[in-house]
Amino acid sequence: MYNEIKTSFLAKIENVTLARTIGVAFLVNLDLPLNFVNEVKTVISEAVTNAIVHGCLSAENKFVQMNLSYDDVNVYIEIIDDGIGIEDVEKAKEPLFSTKLEEERAGLGFTIMEVFTDKLDVKSSVNKGTKVLMVKKYSEQAKLSQL
Ligand SMILES: Nc1ncnc2c1ncn2[C@@H]1O[C@H](COP(=O)(O)OP(=O)(O)OP(=O)(O)O)[C@@H](O)[C@H]1O
Ligand SMILES: [Mg+2]
Repeated sequence: MYNEIKTSFLAKIENVTLARTIGVAFLVNLDLPLNFVNEVKTVISEAVTNAIVHGCLSAENKFVQMNLSYDDVNVYIEIIDDGIGIEDVEKAKEPLFSTKLEEERAGLGFTIMEVFTDKLDVKSSVNKGTKVLMVKKYSEQAKLSQL
């Protein structure tokens, strides 16, 4: 079983809710437990917010791309922007690191993505953009929900 969607939306902060909702709708056929779906919503929110706020600097003429897919085992979430990019990805992933602490950002987005997924892969290039891939395994969870 394989399914995939590709979406693209303007880098406006109100589209974070849209992205989360698309994520939930896409997974509905898998009939997953609520906590799994909530974790997916959370990581989509974190990655899409980063793409809009940091990558695109909320420039509303830019697009953020969200590709979602699943196979028999995993859900795959890919969030792509063609914004400013990240100079040092390893440093950016450290808990509490933020380039926008003055805007009351906690610097925990990547940490949350790491905790709620099985794999987080960040590829970034300065002035070109950032691609965040998250893989979350659902097969065991699906079995549990059928008990
Ligand atoms: N798509 C992106 N484009 C450019 N920079 C990014 C992107 N995503 C993250 N970053 C950089 O990585 C840092 C860490 O991101 P992270 O999500 O962990 O924290 P934050 O967004 O600063 O705070 P929080 O997510 O807790 O509100 C950001 O402060 C930013 O500098
Ligand atoms: Mg963040």
